[in-house]
Amino acid sequence: MSKIISVHSFRGGTGKSNTTANIASLLAADGARVCVVDTDIASPGIHVLFNLGEDEMAPTLNDYLWGKCSIEEAAHNVTEKIGVGIKGEVHLIPSSIKAGEIARILREGYDVGLLNDGFRDVVERMNLDYLLIDTHPGLNEETLLSIAISDALVIIMRPDSQDYQGTAVTVDVAKKLDVPKMYMVINKVPKDYADEGGNPNILETLTYNNVRKRVEETYDAQVGAIFPHSDEMMTLASSGIFSVKYPDNVMSKAMRNLADLIK
Ligand SMILES: Nc1ncnc2c1ncn2[C@@H]1O[C@H](COP(=O)(O)OP(=O)(O)OP(=O)(O)O)[C@@H](O)[C@H]1O
Ligand SMILES: [Mg+2]
Repeated sequence: MSKIISVHSFRGGTGKSNTTANIASLLAADGARVCVVDTDIASPGIHVLFNLGEDEMAPTLNDYLWGKCSIEEAAHNVTEKIGVGIKGEVHLIPSSIKAGEIARILREGYDVGLLNDGFRDVVERMNLDYLLIDTHPGLNEETLLSIAISDALVIIMRPDSQDYQGTAVTVDVAKKLDVPKMYMVINKVPKDYADEGGNPNILETLTYNNVRKRVEETYDAQVGAIFPHSDEMMTLASSGIFSVKYPDNVMSKAMRNLADLIK
């Protein structure tokens, strides 16, 4: 059965696009047919991680929302761009990066019902196992829609006081909308937290477990993954898929656990 998975955060720059792209690649590595939709129409970016060039992006989600193409025509096969070892397929429906097109869709708005139809149609017509929705930070119409139709919701936050407060809003909405599964992901956890515990497996240290406990108790929700702040991720600088480039890194292992959880 196919699954729709949304990846959200209340604040920006928490790691939504990287997490979405990695989960998509890991699911496809095992043979799944996956499509990623960039619903961050105001500031799209996930196409960069998949190495989809500006000249290769059309038609985009914008074109679909303007009635210029079908949703599956806006889906671009990026499997070969990810790297070797992908048994399944990854497709990406990008949002336009053209200033005029971003301005137009923000100015005129669009039919959110059409986005809903697009999600359902693309799952069926492309025979997908997973549809992953990468979102704009905070709450807006497409965020609410994607939460409402998701089988699983991944909420990403950093261990930062602003994130703790803002994330409560998203968790609250998700609970009201009765999302079947919800996983908290804590990203950019300082490595110092790990060193304090003196445990070579940084994800199992006392301090990491304290972060996990605090998040689980604050939101009464399951923590699906804890990712350390990673110099390798900073160096990769969104030029590829982390778990493909650094398969043995502790973060890639945590990403694989998360992908297994949401399967
Ligand atoms: N664990 C990490 N360690 C270090 N850098 C990270 C980590 N996770 C993400 N980053 C970096 O943080 C930046 C933001 O990541 P990403 O684009 O995935 O976040 P986002 O939530 O999609 O952002 P936006 O809200 O702008 O869409 C990128 O430069 C990325 O390389
Ligand atoms: Mg993003």
